Amino acid sequence: MIITVASNKGGVGKSTSAVHVAAFFSARGPTLLIDGDLNRSALQWAKPGKLPFEVCDIDEGVMLSRKYEHVIIDTPARPTAAELAKLAKGCDLLIVPSTPDALSIGPLLEMCKQLKGRNYKILLTLIPPKPNQSGADARKAIAKAKLPLFETGIRRLECFKKAALAGVPVADVKGDSMAGIAASCYQKVGEEILSND
Ligand SMILES: Nc1ncnc2c1ncn2[C@@H]1O[C@H](COP(=O)(O)OP(=O)(O)O)[C@@H](O)[C@H]1O
Ligand SMILES: [Mg+2]
Repeated sequence: MIITVASNKGGVGKSTSAVHVAAFFSARGPTLLIDGDLNRSALQWAKPGKLPFEVCDIDEGVMLSRKYEHVIIDTPARPTAAELAKLAKGCDLLIVPSTPDALSIGPLLEMCKQLKGRNYKILLTLIPPKPNQSGADARKAIAKAKLPLFETGIRRLECFKKAALAGVPVADVKGDSMAGIAASCYQKVGEEILSND
């Protein structure tokens, strides 16, 4: 399976999603994460050598990808809608992470019009805890626009930052009582991907 993670905005949990989707697939077969982002977050995450999958840059990716059953691609920030449509064409699924705040959802819906007919799914990320309603509001707006959305949303949890710093998937973060819940968010995303396959 080839899965691309891309978004029209930076800081929306793209690299975090790529790492955890790769962690999910690595339990099912050899998995490669190609870090196509210039800020190299995924390569940085992999540096301590504790991730259960290989991470490489885009140049190595061309050569290495044939050897892997699953390839996850983290992409450069801010592609245009046309570039996103092209990205979606080349993979089995394009995951478009977005934060749920109202200021992000408007441009997201606009951009998704260009992705019509493509195999993509929006993933709400960094969802703030209740009583904040932005997660629920974003879900309604996306449903109203009849756009594909993961049923699972990713909660905003500090342990995701700890995971990046420690160079591990969030499931392996020690001493944080929310790590299991954080890991289960992406576990469900992985299961949704497989159930649609
Ligand atoms: N679900 C989350 N909860 C809390 N912090 C998160 C979450 N997802 C990402 N982050 C943090 O938000 C920042 C941006 O995430 P990142 O995955 O690097 O986004 P992008 O690749 O889209 O720029 C990072 O500091 C990351 O640790
Ligand atoms: Mg990134």
